[in-house]
Amino acid sequence: MKRFVLVLLLAGWAHAVPASSSLIGNVNGRTTVSLNGAWRTIVDPFDNGKSSRFFRNEKPRNRSDRVEYSFDASPVLNVPGDWNTQRESLLFYEGPVWYRREFTYHNLANTRVFVYFGAANYQASVYLNGEKLGEHEGGCTPFNLEATSLLRDGENFLIVEVSNVRRADAVPALKFDWWSYGGITRDVMLVEVPTTFIQDYSVQLERGSQHEIAGWVQFNGAVTTHEVTIQIPEAGVAFKALTEANGYARFRFDVNKLACGKRSASKCSPLLKLWSPDNPKLYRVIISGEGDSVADEIGFRSIEVQGAKILLNGKPIFLRGISMHEEAPFREGRAFSSEDAETLLGWVKDLGCNFVRFAHYPHNENEIRLADRMGLLVWSEIPVYWDIDWSNPATLENAEAQLRDMIARDHNRAAVILWSVSNETPVKPERLTFLTKLVQEARELDPTRLITSAMNHVDETAPDVRTLSDPLGEVVDVVGLNEYLGWYWGRPEEADKMQWKATWNKPLIISEFGGGAEYGRHGDADEIWTEEYQQNLYQHQLGMLERIPNLAGMSPWVLMDFRSPARMLPGVQDYHNRKGLISNRGQRKLAFYTLQKFYEKLAEEGK
Ligand code: GCU
Repeated sequence: MKRFVLVLLLAGWAHAVPASSSLIGNVNGRTTVSLNGAWRTIVDPFDNGKSSRFFRNEKPRNRSDRVEYSFDASPVLNVPGDWNTQRESLLFYEGPVWYRREFTYHNLANTRVFVYFGAANYQASVYLNGEKLGEHEGGCTPFNLEATSLLRDGENFLIVEVSNVRRADAVPALKFDWWSYGGITRDVMLVEVPTTFIQDYSVQLERGSQHEIAGWVQFNGAVTTHEVTIQIPEAGVAFKALTEANGYARFRFDVNKLACGKRSASKCSPLLKLWSPDNPKLYRVIISGEGDSVADEIGFRSIEVQGAKILLNGKPIFLRGISMHEEAPFREGRAFSSEDAETLLGWVKDLGCNFVRFAHYPHNENEIRLADRMGLLVWSEIPVYWDIDWSNPATLENAEAQLRDMIARDHNRAAVILWSVSNETPVKPERLTFLTKLVQEARELDPTRLITSAMNHVDETAPDVRTLSDPLGEVVDVVGLNEYLGWYWGRPEEADKMQWKATWNKPLIISEFGGGAEYGRHGDADEIWTEEYQQNLYQHQLGMLERIPNLAGMSPWVLMDFRSPARMLPGVQDYHNRKGLISNRGQRKLAFYTLQKFYEKLAEEGK
């Protein structure tokens, strides 16, 4: 008979209080009303909507009344979904679009209601029944706005102005190698919670431990201290903590000690089965208190570094990975659905991967939760990409907010092991200051995971030696290196002699390498854009990577061809980056099988 272990823990454990995001954690574990579907839309290229008060949803009151816009008469766009691939005329559109959703709602007693957006690219202004609810910046992070006081009992209208206009002080800035898909690109829902509710929580293994669970619960609306219970029924554990006056409770306990009581550890089997790619075990965890309760599926695993090794559950692991964009297979456009995630991560598994790099922005929650269930380790990144406005405090604040929201949404996901603060950013002092702040904030927000960045600044320390010497390498836990030998410089064969060195005794991940090929274009291995050229490049690269002494992992660029405004070669690229191992029509190129065979070999070698 499993023994229920009840623990009363007083406040005051030594855990950092995170500067919290206002995000409601695990919305899918709450009572929600979906607002997905067809929304009326007005394309507003000259940004007139604000001055014309589109947010008022006005309609002519009589036949002489002049109203120069009409949502009722306007075409629809599907939500979730980008506008670029829904309407031919909007493929290249960069500007504001106004969305309207009318819905009926009946207010509930003792209930607060938030409007939750999975994402809206890039900037959104939200209005309910003609009143402003709030703003959000950042195209790939979720946000929620409280609507309780503005909701009507009956007919309501929600209006959202979304703009994907690029700015030099934004994150990302003006130049990036992916399509700036505009629109409400992920789910929208009403979230109903009690007056005092569980805003968010973290239930994870303490860093480096395999049986100590530590975390916190944050209530919203609380005015007094009160009890919160965290249960893991399958493990027979339930414990109580008391919140501080601000509704925040911290907790920590040793599962084994609780389960074993006075018996020696040797006589007691560990309660928790640890999450890993081979056994992605998730436990139902229930957090409840003050009349609210949220259930979640959480895996418990430890992740840490030891010299140049990455240890998962105390054992070295080699990350057999691939990089991917959040691009929908076959239909193109922003991926968002669980079907999209199943197709894309299914291909990642087919490659023989245990790791995936979600580039270059936080991907949708369907992908993250599926990685949790499939046993795929995840690198998640914010779009601090190439050169941005490093000395601008507003840009830093923006990047910090995106970092906070990325961590807030996914900090209970065992699959996520790496937070990346940037990709291919130029080495200069203001950049290092900026990124160092992000790294510190990430560590404070989440002491359980590893911090990384994809760098590309190397020194030619000898004809066949390249040394990664970017000072950012000093600050992160794991060093990512993007190298394009055989594509942007040198010939593929030069990889046979090339040596790569990193200044620090830290795990090194080759976070990108690769070359372009158009599916179905065949020729000799030195004929660019052919599948044979790409295959040849991979063969030489894989040989080179195997010779890098402290390589801890790799995520070649890239799983699937994706749209990019920076790729304009007619008949080959046609606004697509063709470095995919799979075409945007789902066709596998020769190099797909080259990498698949290589990963098969590594897996057999226990790597
Ligand atoms: C860069 C960058 C990617 C880009 C790739 C490429 O390294 O990180 O976003 O798509 O190279 O040039 O194809």
